[in-house]
Amino acid sequence: MPLLIQNGRVITATDDYQADIYCAGETITRIEPSIDAKSLPPGTEVVDATGQFVFPGFIDPHVHIYLPFMGTFAADDYASASRAALAGGTTTLIEMICPGPADQPWDAFELWRSKAQGLAAVDYTFHMSVVRFEPGVRDQFRKIVGAGVASFKVFLAYKGALNLTDEDLFATMKLARELGVIVTAHCENADAIDALQKALLAAGNTGPEWHGPSRPPAVEADGVHHLCTFAELLGTHVYTVHTSCDEAVRAALAARYRGVNVWIESVIPHFVLDETCAERPNFEGAKYVMSPPLRAKRNQEVLWNGVKSRAISTIATDHAPFSFRGQKDMGKDGFTRIPNGIPSIQERVDLVHTHGVAAERVTLNTMVDACSTQAARLFGLYPRKGAIQVGSDADLVVYDPAFRSTFTKAGSHSNVDYNAYEGWDRVGRARVVTVRGAIQARDGKFVGTIGRGRFLEREPTH
Ligand code: URP
Ligand code: ZN
Ligand code: ZN
Repeated sequence: MPLLIQNGRVITATDDYQADIYCAGETITRIEPSIDAKSLPPGTEVVDATGQFVFPGFIDPHVHIYLPFMGTFAADDYASASRAALAGGTTTLIEMICPGPADQPWDAFELWRSKAQGLAAVDYTFHMSVVRFEPGVRDQFRKIVGAGVASFKVFLAYKGALNLTDEDLFATMKLARELGVIVTAHCENADAIDALQKALLAAGNTGPEWHGPSRPPAVEADGVHHLCTFAELLGTHVYTVHTSCDEAVRAALAARYRGVNVWIESVIPHFVLDETCAERPNFEGAKYVMSPPLRAKRNQEVLWNGVKSRAISTIATDHAPFSFRGQKDMGKDGFTRIPNGIPSIQERVDLVHTHGVAAERVTLNTMVDACSTQAARLFGLYPRKGAIQVGSDADLVVYDPAFRSTFTKAGSHSNVDYNAYEGWDRVGRARVVTVRGAIQARDGKFVGTIGRGRFLEREPTH
């Protein structure tokens, strides 16, 4: 059904203007100061956006939906993750494919794609994790890139599970350079963490509050520096995921000043939550265990200023949903067994609006750039996604900045039993969310079609 969004204030990464937007099918076909609804085909759906912002659909470039991890599986599937994402204004997801070391990469790609097919209501693509790199797998990675997955993921953390040896990291980054794909990286020194964890456990420090001390900022800064050294040697383009603290941001910027092609992602939990959350009594702190860990509060201003100055390119979530009961409590006797992750896929945009825009830390344009446009540019989706232009996909968010509410578990669609932001004030809400011209969410409720989401093939752009 054709769609007309009237009287809205259109906000992109660079522009801010009043316009009407018409979508005849799946793409934006007209953007004009005023479009007369009476001139449009019968049956055109008209959304009055008076007093509202119209944003390009938000993109979350770092999520986990199907994730076998730390002895369990992430709690969402594509249906619940799509509902949550759309209710919060996110229309495109980039999920990490995270196979185990024994899995064949192509099989993993097909498995992850099959988990999305038929259940996704958002559009989606993947970063392909490389967890080992013997000669035989090289061709599989070429084939996966050829199938439209134009980015790799590497883990410098998670010793014995996901982390790569230096030899394999070098070979992976060399191949990425040859293929023109960017390498996204979890940067923490796995061996240092392993040693610190063992020492803490041996001293009887088993609670969730010890997760942070087992992975201090220096461990992350070291990982960023290490990745950037290889990038410097090889010319590979790299993207540091969930960059959490001053030390790690500085390591990336120092590399950038040396000419390294490095981009920085930070994730919403690190902007608004701090290390004291993991100290909450009665094991509640486990809800706030993620890696890198929540940091000292002073780092939050560093991250916001990094976004404001555009040193930090993207704000993602690293959505990794594990319930408190039955999953997080696997680590009751030792923090190293608490599944890592803080689910935030639904809350990200409103948290950035509340704590970034309404708190005057960043502008609306910067919010759009960090939560949509930069991800599209970096990962080969622009201007199909991340833009409001004639010809772009009609992924649009009509956003009410005056809405006031609180975040609650009751209002969230993710399959977990808690909300990390429970009871927090919330300023703003996505009123209407479209994916390729079809309304998929209204006022926090999913009203779309499960299975309508499409796999986005991407070309190498680096
Ligand atoms: O705590 C986290 N980040 N969980 C998900 C896995 C990862 O490292 O991204
Ligand atoms: Zn990670
Ligand atoms: Zn992650």
